[in-house]
Amino acid sequence: MRIGVPKEIKSDEYRVAMMPVGAEMLVKGGHPVFIETQAGVGSGFSDDDYRAVGATIVATHEEVFDKAELLIKVKEPQPAEIGLFRPGQVVFTYFHFAASPELTQACLESGITAIAYETIRDKAGRLPCLTPMSEIAGKLAPMEGGKYLEKPMMGRGILLGGVPGVAPAHVVILGAGVVGTNAAKVAAGLGATVVLMDVNLERLRYLDDVMPANVHTLYSDPHTIREQLRLADLVIGSVLIPGAKAPQLVNRQHLKEMKNGSVIVDVAIDQGGSIETSRPTTHQNPTYVVEGVVHYCVTNMPGAVGRTSTIALCNATLPYAVKLANKGYEQAACDDPGFGEGINLVAGRITNAAVAESVHMKCQPLKGSR
Ligand SMILES: NC(=O)c1ccc[n+]([C@@H]2O[C@H](COP(=O)([O-])OP(=O)(O)OC[C@H]3O[C@@H](n4cnc5c(N)ncnc54)[C@H](O)[C@@H]3O)[C@@H](O)[C@H]2O)c1
Repeated sequence: MRIGVPKEIKSDEYRVAMMPVGAEMLVKGGHPVFIETQAGVGSGFSDDDYRAVGATIVATHEEVFDKAELLIKVKEPQPAEIGLFRPGQVVFTYFHFAASPELTQACLESGITAIAYETIRDKAGRLPCLTPMSEIAGKLAPMEGGKYLEKPMMGRGILLGGVPGVAPAHVVILGAGVVGTNAAKVAAGLGATVVLMDVNLERLRYLDDVMPANVHTLYSDPHTIREQLRLADLVIGSVLIPGAKAPQLVNRQHLKEMKNGSVIVDVAIDQGGSIETSRPTTHQNPTYVVEGVVHYCVTNMPGAVGRTSTIALCNATLPYAVKLANKGYEQAACDDPGFGEGINLVAGRITNAAVAESVHMKCQPLKGSR
């Protein structure tokens, strides 16, 4: 199968979807690999690194799209890329369809088979291709939040960890999954007082056992959230209902009750965001202020640490890319129903139930899928 890896064109995106080691594995398996020139430089991989393992470097974005039967990317297709798709082409990347009915419609019309990293499940029901990026975004979230709490960045002028004689910041984390847990570890490590909230009591029980003493768990209900927002210096939004739009837990009225200069880092923005006033931002222009609260809503946070993120992403996606190339998506889904859950669109129809529900369209599951 001919495999194409384009250079990412989303603003400040430095990741690449395949490392030279992955290209080598696929080439050795008999699959020609086409890499767009300079695709790897943001992550520290040169064209020569790919040439050395037998991949072909091509000059343009258009040429990669044109040559590939299987296109492997990082970020959701950008408007300029949609016109380059052709019916039947298999595209393996993050799509986040639930957050964008427009993207869903455009990809349906293009006739591609869309396989979304973020909805693939492993045997334990986890999301193996989302997890590494969530670990990174989670670790970045308190660091970014801490930066924007600084006075010159429009924040309250609060140091996350405080100092002897001065209280640390109060950090509220909504969603105690992978992002939330990693955010809690970093924020707690810096000395903040951390409140980790979730609707999953089993999860909270476990975290209560393993987290340091400055992390407190609370059940996430509207009253407790509102109480915590009033105390918060930094709020991190990290909820997820897989495949669906993020539930909105904070509205504009809540912001009016928050401290002036407090900060919200809405990591869940790629699934639509968990705060009413969140809208996607970029690394170039990461923040804006509403009701005195600084909002940071960058949709590709891991892109900022491109090398770490590329390695972490490719470690998770390569085994699936190899299966896809060797077997095709139908057989791969048959052999691994969890992988089948990653197949969101096929030839103009939606095949993932959560995605269909989110964009209010009909689901037509693949035969034999769960
Ligand atoms: N912006 C970025 O660059 C970036 C990067 C990685 C991940 N993300 C996003 O971060 C979000 C979280 O990802 P994750 O991997 O941690 O997911 P996860 O599934 O591990 O965790 C989500 C948690 O949210 C909880 N939850 C659901 N509804 C809730 C509610 N009403 N109140 C409190 N908790 C609730 C779930 O019980 C779960 O524990 C996702 O939207 C993901 O796409 C964004």
